[in-house]
Amino acid sequence: MLPVEQLLQVAQEARNHAYVPYSGYRVGAAIETDKGEIVGGCNVENLSYGATICAERTAVTRMVASGAGSSIRQILVASQDGVTPCGICLQVLKEFVADGDVQVHCFDEDGSAHRFRFRDLLPHGFESVNVRRTEPPATQV
Ligand code: THU
Repeated sequence: MLPVEQLLQVAQEARNHAYVPYSGYRVGAAIETDKGEIVGGCNVENLSYGATICAERTAVTRMVASGAGSSIRQILVASQDGVTPCGICLQVLKEFVADGDVQVHCFDEDGSAHRFRFRDLLPHGFESVNVRRTEPPATQV
């Protein structure tokens, strides 16, 4: 497991890039992947508010698109007041969080943090064996 300080640095850097003309509320996220890489993300807002993507989901999509990993070891969110990921983000993160013990570190601007286990934030997220494919999707090599 990489030191939390390294994830914090990546999240803060990403937070500086947040595109937030509507809320003015900057969020940065960092995830450590199963390959030991750290991937950052920030929120990117849109005039059509519902099209906004949160920092955590930006990080997940970057992990997948860059091939930085296929599962998440730990998660860090950096915001003004140390918020936890929203419900949509928790469900998206759940797809790649193999273990409910995965730590979610929520930092505020003063550097104070609250730490949660993923399963405590989303104890009963959506899952059903009935929507699973019988074969994994083909991946490009
Ligand atoms: N936001 C995040 O990026 N992550 C969260 O965990 C909570 C909310 C963003 C979405 C929007 O751009 C702004 O914060 C205010 O809701």
